[in-house]
Amino acid sequence: MAPLNIVVLGGSGNVGSKLAHRLAVAGHNLILTSRNPTDDKAKAAVEFVASEGASGTVKSASFEEAKAAKIDVLIVATPGMTSPTEWSPVLTPLGELEGVVVIDASNPLTSWPNLDIAVNQNHASASDHIQSVLRKAIVYKAFNTLGAEILGDPKIGGLSKTDMLFAGPAEPESAKATVTKVISDVGFRPVYVGPLRYARNLESLAELWIHLAVKFGAGGTWSWAIEGPYDLK
Ligand SMILES: NC(=O)c1ccc[n+]([C@@H]2O[C@H](COP(=O)([O-])OP(=O)(O)OC[C@H]3O[C@@H](n4cnc5c(N)ncnc54)[C@H](OP(=O)(O)O)[C@@H]3O)[C@@H](O)[C@H]2O)c1
Repeated sequence: MAPLNIVVLGGSGNVGSKLAHRLAVAGHNLILTSRNPTDDKAKAAVEFVASEGASGTVKSASFEEAKAAKIDVLIVATPGMTSPTEWSPVLTPLGELEGVVVIDASNPLTSWPNLDIAVNQNHASASDHIQSVLRKAIVYKAFNTLGAEILGDPKIGGLSKTDMLFAGPAEPESAKATVTKVISDVGFRPVYVGPLRYARNLESLAELWIHLAVKFGAGGTWSWAIEGPYDLK
C-alpha cells in the first residue's frame, strides 16, 4: 500500500501527536489540524511528529488547508463529544469526506475526578455521532482503549502483546484494510471486534482502562490482550 495522506484532527494534542509520529515513521504523510495552526503548541507538535526517523511529510494546517488536501484517512483525536450537534462544528469544516476512512480515537469523558464515559439516552458512541455527521465517510473506532503512553510506544514496559481492538464496517474491504494498515503501522496487532455499533463497548472498555490506570493504581503501561485460537482480523 502506498503512503497514505493522513489528517489528524487534534494533531497538536497528546494522542494525536503520538499516533502521528508513529505513522510518519512508517512513511505516511501527516497533516495536523489545529484551531491555531501557527501557535507554539502546533509548531512543537510538528517538530515532535517529524523527529526521530520520521520519513513522511509533516505539517500543521488550518481546517480550510486540510480540506483542500487529498485525504485518505482522518484520525479524530479531539475531546470526545456526546451529540452530532456538538461534533458538527468540529467535523464539517473538513467537508463531506466522501469515501474517506475516519478513525475515531476519542472518548466522551466526564470531568475529573469521575472520568466516566458520558452515556447518552440512545447509548450512541462518539463514533456513531461522527458517522451521523459525516454520512459519506466510513467511520471506525480504534486507539481509544489504551493510554497515550502506550499509543506512543506500544512495547513500553516490555509488553509482549500489543493488541488494538477496533470496530467499524467490514465492507468495503479496502476501508477495513486501510484501518488494519494504520493500526499495524502504529505498532499494534489489529483485532476486529465487529461493526460500528460496538464502538460503545470500546468506549466502556476505555472507561475501565482509565479507572484501573488512574483510580486504582494500575498506571499507564498495561494493555488489553486477546488470548486463544482467534483470528480476529
Ligand atoms: N490521553 C490518553 O491517554 C487517551 C488515550 C486514548 C484516547 N484518548 C482520547 O483521545 C482524545 C484526545 O485526548 P488527548 O489526551 O490527546 O487530549 P489533548 O492533549 O487535550 O488534545 C486534544 C486536541 O484537540 C484539540 N481540541 C480541543 N478542543 C477542541 C475542539 N472543541 N474542537 C477542535 N479541536 C479541539 C486541541 O488542539 P488545538 O488546540 O490545537 O486545536 C488539542 O490539542 C480524547 O477524546 C481522549 O479521550 C486519550
